[in-house]
Amino acid sequence: MPNHSLRVGVLTGGGDCPGLNAALRAVTKSLTLQHDAEVLGFRDGFRGLVDRTVEPLRYRDVSGILTRGGTILGASNKADPFNYLPRGGADVSAQVVKTYRTLDLDALVAIGGDGTMSIANRLTELDIDIVGVPKTIDNDLVGTDRTVGFDTAVSVATDAIDRIHTTAQSHHRVMIVETMGRYSGWIALHAGVASGADVILLPEIEYEVDEVARVCRDRERSGQRFTIVAVAEGARRKEGDYVVQERGDEYTDSIRLGGISRVLAEQLREPLDTSVRTTVLGHMQRGGSPTAYDRNLATALGSRAAALAADGASGVMVAVQNDAFTQVPLHEIADKTRTVPADHPLLTSGLDVGTSFGVEDADLAAHTQPTF
Ligand code: F6P
Repeated sequence: MPNHSLRVGVLTGGGDCPGLNAALRAVTKSLTLQHDAEVLGFRDGFRGLVDRTVEPLRYRDVSGILTRGGTILGASNKADPFNYLPRGGADVSAQVVKTYRTLDLDALVAIGGDGTMSIANRLTELDIDIVGVPKTIDNDLVGTDRTVGFDTAVSVATDAIDRIHTTAQSHHRVMIVETMGRYSGWIALHAGVASGADVILLPEIEYEVDEVARVCRDRERSGQRFTIVAVAEGARRKEGDYVVQERGDEYTDSIRLGGISRVLAEQLREPLDTSVRTTVLGHMQRGGSPTAYDRNLATALGSRAAALAADGASGVMVAVQNDAFTQVPLHEIADKTRTVPADHPLLTSGLDVGTSFGVEDADLAAHTQPTF
């Protein structure tokens, strides 16, 4: 066995998304080629650190995975060591520290979303040197303009809405397409604008049923006898509740959003004569090969994380801000959600081309003025 100057662990935490393998490849190849490091991959997120299920990741192990969806290491959203659900919610963080010390690791690279970054932040307080890499289709991590996986999810959702468009046109229907994204509307906003959706409903702007119905009727009257509605799973009507698909303690995040498209279809039944159909895109948005953008983002962020880990950095997440790569302290981003700001340029552009966001434009215009 060759003697390496450095030993670094890597894991993929939380839900999977396209681009995780590209990030693993970048971390492993950069550490191996540029920093003479030995890389160990932990199975199923933090579970691998608790159970010490770990394997060496060599250059050849990550060759050929750039374009593959999912993660060769496996992922888990039940393995928060501070609330370890496989052991009834026990705090097993001491076990993580023990694994880290026993394996004589110099650093850990955690590729994950908000849950993973919050866990990583707490682990730095236990003297584990961690560098985070942001991934999630939701794009809701504070401190970075983009997360790995988001671009692919937008591309899948855009393609789906394009397809729904043609059938909506043929049958003169209102077609509602539900995207993922949890409590932020990034996917619905980007895919909705990209596909020319007539109505885009985001968690950030509580919609009015009357306004959505008015848009559908106006389009019908003007001879455009169909309407496309892109709705984020976290959207809700004014003063209404989130639509929850499932609640349960078997996951770290006990609330599964989902079902708003059917609720909205029901709300539109009375005010509209037109038939309404719904499509829930679901996990399709998380599957398949990453786009070129996501592959490049994963490669850039992964190699940067490798360099930081080799340099002895800790408690930071690599990030992209205004097209430049940087890093942000984990304690500044932990337990926060990045939502779509009311003055986001894409939202304003949507308004300019006549897209409805489910409230009267005058109301929204008032919201979209930047506040100083
Ligand atoms: O965070 C990614 C995400 O796909 C969300 O958009 C969605 O609400 C959630 O995960 C679904 O979680 P699960 O895969 O556990 O059903």
